[in-house]
Amino acid sequence: MAHGQRGPNVDFDAAYARVAPWDIGRPQPALLRLAESGSIHGRVLDVGCGTGEHALMAAALGLEATGVDSSVTAVGLAQRKAEERHLAARFLVWDALDLPSLKEQFDTVIDSALFHIFGDDDRGRYVESLRAAIPPGGGYFMLCFSDRVPGDIGPRRVTQSEIRACFRQGWTVRSIEAATMEVTFTPAGVSAWLSTIDRTSEGGGHAEPPGEDIGPDRRRPTPDTRCGVDRPGERARLGAASRRPRQGGPALIHDQRCPSRCRDRVGQAGGGAGQDGRRRGGSA
Ligand SMILES: C[S@@+](CC[C@H](N)C(=O)[O-])C[C@H]1O[C@@H](n2cnc3c(N)ncnc32)[C@H](O)[C@@H]1O
Repeated sequence: MAHGQRGPNVDFDAAYARVAPWDIGRPQPALLRLAESGSIHGRVLDVGCGTGEHALMAAALGLEATGVDSSVTAVGLAQRKAEERHLAARFLVWDALDLPSLKEQFDTVIDSALFHIFGDDDRGRYVESLRAAIPPGGGYFMLCFSDRVPGDIGPRRVTQSEIRACFRQGWTVRSIEAATMEVTFTPAGVSAWLSTIDRTSEGGGHAEPPGEDIGPDRRRPTPDTRCGVDRPGERARLGAASRRPRQGGPALIHDQRCPSRCRDRVGQAGGGAGQDGRRRGGSA
């Protein structure tokens, strides 16, 4: 399925009736390596946790771990795994776009295959939501499909430039490394980006110009894809017409033409039990 600038139209809850293509039953090796190196620390949030492998990985290290997912079925399965493995991890049905209402902050946020499901409409909202959950000094580790994945089946492909553009203000993109995302449908896995991103300040600061990816650490200037209101001169030109407060920080100006259309969305959360006896199948 081609998604263009929109997110995929996936019924995630239904996907968990079988073994979903991303649900490999263990942590993604790229994220496990980070955990083993000590990069994952403190209070940990596994956002879009699915059946909970990364929260459980953190709990197994003795860390205080929470997983959130919008799928009631996934959260039920994660809770069951925690009980079976005798691990103390908390799982909540929660909208990743509504982390401010969780009213909690985390030292480390892990995102395995969530970022790439959001279309342009929700990407900006997601980054704003993360901003509330990660205080300055906290870290965000994100594994997503890369633009090197051939074809257009499955989740949206993501370029390094898009990642840098999303996290340019108030964050430092420490690294974006080529990695492999393991999946159930091919032993080779798929090409992914592993991003290591630090939350640096409330008001912004790190402003790296976006560029076209032409290889590791080399970027060719391209037309500015940033939210127009972040471009020099745009703030002054637009004035305060479309200001809205940002959690704990100064007002952020947004405009109807912002490609991320960073509007607020009030998420819903429910609760319920998971289900077992799932079959393998489906595409990513
Ligand atoms: C591709 S799966 C990855 C699951 C898990 N992180 C893993 O690596 O196995 C994406 C997950 O994001 C969840 N999800 C999608 N939209 C969400 C949202 N708005 N808030 C929270 N979770 C969401 C889905 O239910 C699904 O479990």
